Amino acid sequence: MGDQIDGLIDELTLAEKVSLTHGAVDPDGRATGYIPGVERLDIPPLGMVDGPLGVRIPGESSTAFPAPLALAATFDVDLATEFGTALGRETRGKGQDVLLAPGVNLIRVPNNGRNFEYFSEDPVHAAAFSAAVVEGIQSMDVIATPKHYVANNQERERASIDVQVGERALRELYLPAFEAAVDVGAGSVMTAYNTVNGTRMSDHDRLINTVLKGEFGFEGYTVSDWFGTESASAAVNGGLDVEMPGISMEEMVAPMAEDDGEASADDGGVEAPTDAMSDDEEEGETMPEEVANGMPDPETCERFAETLADAVEAGEVPEERLDDAVSRVLGQMDRVGMFDGDRVEGDVDTDAHRDLTERVAARGTVLLENDGILPIEEDADVALIGPNVDEAILGGGGSSETSPVVESVPADAVAERADGDVDVVRGLPRVVGVSLMDYLSGDTDLEPDGEVAIDAATDAATDAEVAVVLARDVATEALDRESLSLPDRQDELIEAVADANDRTVVVLNTSGPVETPWREDVAAIVENWYPGQAHGDAIAAVLYGDHDPAGRLPVTFAPEATYPTADERRFPGVDGQVHYDEGVFVGYRHFDRIESQPTYPFGHGLSYADFEYVDASIDGETATVTIENVAERDGREVVQAYVRPPAIDGIDRPERELAGFAAIEVPAGERVTAEIDLGSRAFARYDDGDGWTVDSGEYVVEIGRSARDSRLERSIER
Ligand code: GLC
Repeated sequence: MGDQIDGLIDELTLAEKVSLTHGAVDPDGRATGYIPGVERLDIPPLGMVDGPLGVRIPGESSTAFPAPLALAATFDVDLATEFGTALGRETRGKGQDVLLAPGVNLIRVPNNGRNFEYFSEDPVHAAAFSAAVVEGIQSMDVIATPKHYVANNQERERASIDVQVGERALRELYLPAFEAAVDVGAGSVMTAYNTVNGTRMSDHDRLINTVLKGEFGFEGYTVSDWFGTESASAAVNGGLDVEMPGISMEEMVAPMAEDDGEASADDGGVEAPTDAMSDDEEEGETMPEEVANGMPDPETCERFAETLADAVEAGEVPEERLDDAVSRVLGQMDRVGMFDGDRVEGDVDTDAHRDLTERVAARGTVLLENDGILPIEEDADVALIGPNVDEAILGGGGSSETSPVVESVPADAVAERADGDVDVVRGLPRVVGVSLMDYLSGDTDLEPDGEVAIDAATDAATDAEVAVVLARDVATEALDRESLSLPDRQDELIEAVADANDRTVVVLNTSGPVETPWREDVAAIVENWYPGQAHGDAIAAVLYGDHDPAGRLPVTFAPEATYPTADERRFPGVDGQVHYDEGVFVGYRHFDRIESQPTYPFGHGLSYADFEYVDASIDGETATVTIENVAERDGREVVQAYVRPPAIDGIDRPERELAGFAAIEVPAGERVTAEIDLGSRAFARYDDGDGWTVDSGEYVVEIGRSARDSRLERSIER
């Protein structure tokens, strides 16, 4: 097709070429990003939709998958490929061509409002899931769009913040998930809103042209985040290929507003988001100021449609650069079969996808504590408590919002699964999530309902054999969490219930780390993340032992003040700049360095089974490990391999770094031997002068269950 594309470019007029480099209004009002194509030359339109948790089209439903953080907690890359394949199948099933996923930014800040959309605090773990999900999506003739390139690690002032970050941290932490996506052929990469070291990411010649397209060999097209550009010529010369959405905010929001039964934007019947962002109360529901601070300003974006052709004719943008951008877009359209018509049909809300949502939600569940109370005895009488027990926690707010066909709520699913009595008491008013899409469409009825009834909850707990409390946090795009504490008196509810019944289980549905001040007072703690549409069935299966909670923490849980970003200069930043002064010491790397014991370390997770580490050997870049399950029930173990480098004067390296991992089924009483690929950079560090460097010396490979639970060690010389 290369020659055919070259031929097409030769035939395209300048105006037609420009039309292939920016968004336009989708006449069907379904695609979030839309390039109309060129009918004269049989170039079809290109439809782009969000997102990482499922396909979002205003007024339509599709599978609401668990949050990517829950997927990452499985440490099972084969499952991640299956997850991506299902996302791709639903994208095609909805007649779209591009999925604006996966989100692959590193989890640097525990408060980040979008952590639920991402994979990990560790770059090797994040890269493995980035590649697996991209491969799955693209196996369905869909263009994946790993995002947001790069160092978009907070939502506060995301459209204006300048990230001051060193090259080594970029190379070792923030770039690997994008590099891995490119290595498996990602067809698109979305640039971030923020600037990096003073240059806007959509214009970043070094990080886009030199690194992404040059060093990494990226052959697809780069697309801006929505309203994430400024000067058209600076962006195109900097390596940006496509500007989105290319239309006004009012035009973009109109389909959502119509979906909510609101008047369409063009008759002024709905507040345009710029109005919605205003503090003008009489126009009805408006977006809170703190959320608006995380939104882009559409007025700062120069439209490619209005200025790019002139820039080319004026010689500001070489036509060869425009041709390259168009060639990249057409090349990806060809790669997914949009020219020859031979494409995967796709499907939505299949039984297999419904099953997958439960498997991922259950497998990604992390058993943080268990005194033996879990799994719950079948015939136990249970008090099921929590302000949101009657709803499925689908995800967080923002462009990743989903709308499932079916959903399973804990109150019904536990009642159905249990043989004993189940007494359901909410105990508090509903903890209400934030829907950015509702704010944008002007349809916000996000009001808590219910009343404070902690006494009713403690009475139910007193009368039950087991008390189960479900608690959630609230997270959304465009806003970071004010604190890591559970909101709205949930800690108080948990403490009161634990006082009433010492057989209390806490189930957390959160977007990332949370404080657990009551952990010494409860019998078990389960982290169930944002589980999606299968919430109820998945948590019932874990609580009653149908699924082994095989999740392991993809992020460290620790007291908020102990994270490396606790300092204002490091998060949210001062005077418009955020300083990544911690360098590569993010997550467990940091806690090792300050010799602080986190509440629950990276990689931590208990099991209903019991594993012994029998033997390990290292051959080159492969670790071979034998595990025995000495319990009487099958289980899944996540074997983790960390590398401890030699101490070398003047070189400040993390004490240990994850090199590889394997999630394995181990039947009761049996041994399983697994191979772990330690990766080509397992022993390397990035040197600002020499690039990737392996220092000579003795390296210790730790094989174990978490960053703080090494079971076997093997030394090798490099
Ligand atoms: C949003 C998000 C991005 C999303 C895009 C389209 O601002 O940052 O993740 O894909 O716009 O909705």
